[in-house]
Amino acid sequence: MRFKSPGRCRDAERLREMLQAVDPSFDCELKLEAGGPLAQPLEVGGFRLANRFVTHPMEGWDASPDGLPTADTLRRWRRFGRSGAKLIWGGEAFAVSEDGRANPNQLYLNDDAAVMAGLVQLRAEVGAGHTEIGEDPGELVIGLQLTHSGRFSRPHGQFAPKIAHSHPPLAAKYGAEPEPMTDAELDALGERFVAAARLAQEAGYAFVDVKCCHGYLLHETLGAHTREGVYGGSFENRTRFLLRVIDEVRSACPGLGVVARVSIVDTHPFSAGEDELGEPAGWEEHVPYRWGFGVDPEDPRKTSMDEPLQLLGLLAEREVKLINLSLGSPYYNPHLQRPAAYPPSDGYQPPADPLEGVFAHIQAARACKEAYPDLAFVGTGYSYLQEWLPHVAQHELRTGGVDLIGLGRMLLSYPELPIDILHGSPIDRRRICRTFSDCTTAPRNGQKSGCYPLDPYYRESPEAESISALRRRRS
Ligand SMILES: Cc1cc2nc3c(=O)[nH]c(=O)nc-3n(C[C@H](O)[C@H](O)[C@H](O)COP(=O)(O)O)c2cc1C
Ligand code: SF4
Repeated sequence: MRFKSPGRCRDAERLREMLQAVDPSFDCELKLEAGGPLAQPLEVGGFRLANRFVTHPMEGWDASPDGLPTADTLRRWRRFGRSGAKLIWGGEAFAVSEDGRANPNQLYLNDDAAVMAGLVQLRAEVGAGHTEIGEDPGELVIGLQLTHSGRFSRPHGQFAPKIAHSHPPLAAKYGAEPEPMTDAELDALGERFVAAARLAQEAGYAFVDVKCCHGYLLHETLGAHTREGVYGGSFENRTRFLLRVIDEVRSACPGLGVVARVSIVDTHPFSAGEDELGEPAGWEEHVPYRWGFGVDPEDPRKTSMDEPLQLLGLLAEREVKLINLSLGSPYYNPHLQRPAAYPPSDGYQPPADPLEGVFAHIQAARACKEAYPDLAFVGTGYSYLQEWLPHVAQHELRTGGVDLIGLGRMLLSYPELPIDILHGSPIDRRRICRTFSDCTTAPRNGQKSGCYPLDPYYRESPEAESISALRRRRS
């Protein structure tokens, strides 16, 4: 590990020094305030949230081959309920079609009536987890994240990409591409999103997230500069598919909340260079850059907020009031999407202090909030801050940089961290996520995801040794 981890700071003053070495405006509060910003309620989009924690969606690669939850899936959702967060942002990505699964064990929409029962059961597990920690399940706001994995579809184990447009930098990394999906194929897919939203509503979900992040299909449409036809080229055309899906879900499902998780900016793909360090290899050959969204076309190592802010305006016009902000993709720039001390097995050593990645998330949220104060934004990337995440979160909430604090990996290792923070209980440092990335490495190697180092349920599983061997090889 080349960079000092925040977990090594002995107090918040030391953390502050580390943050400010990244940027003078990157800051934390020195003391956590009982009943302070993290505990404040928020009313947004017709929902009342009793505190500011949100569970980010996280797949487990553990559904049955016909897309139904297994005991492992149910366990994860119950643990989301044990977090004390009131907003369950999608639980995990639910594929709207069989070919849009990112792995053979993803939840997905098939014609089986059991899918509905599975969705009901998952929601009930969240409620049961919430009850276990003494919280009122009536306060939960639970949504379902709808997805098509596009270029990263692996419904039967091998990549079987469906693409919105050719992407030379990604083709250089991943190999041959198929022909882009036709407009008619995209239109038909839009109907699957609507069908999945109807099912979610019938199963009692309060909202659906039209997932538009991480390099998956809808996110890719935003960067379809080189595509012909109504879904490519101009900004209006590139945003058309996302907005169409949102409009159609709205008109088919009155009363259902519609929100979006968006990779609000992106960069040129990274890969391991000399000494395994991540680098945006070949970026000079890809200028002007015409394959991304929120990327500076003249220097694709840099991000650009111009179009992303315009997109937020279009979402606001459609009453999409809640936006979960993410960055980039866990496949081609994981140091940005999920800053970590240790890379996943298909990744690279962090090219810079992972705190820079965390700050990129914070900066993006601040810019969005400043431009659209009436929208509510969920921030991402907090797990790398480890035991100090509430100190930074409290600062960002108090200064108006973000509205809600989303947690991903931390909830796999220590689901009760938010409720412990809210209750002012001692933090169990042994369960703090140290960003070993095993939960990403496992699925990249065909195994279920889970916190193998810290969650005894996975640590004692037969796969644990081979997964930690993959990490040792990379470290
Ligand atoms: C195992 C795993 C599965 C994930 N699955 C999803 C997913 O289904 N949908 C999604 O939008 N993000 C997914 N993510 C990304 C997380 O929601 C989150 O953005 C990321 O982990 C960064 O937040 P953190 O620093 O709190 O972990 C996943 C992350 C991990 C580690
Ligand atoms: S495997 Fe556990 S410790 Fe490692 S990143 Fe995932 S949740 Fe964190």
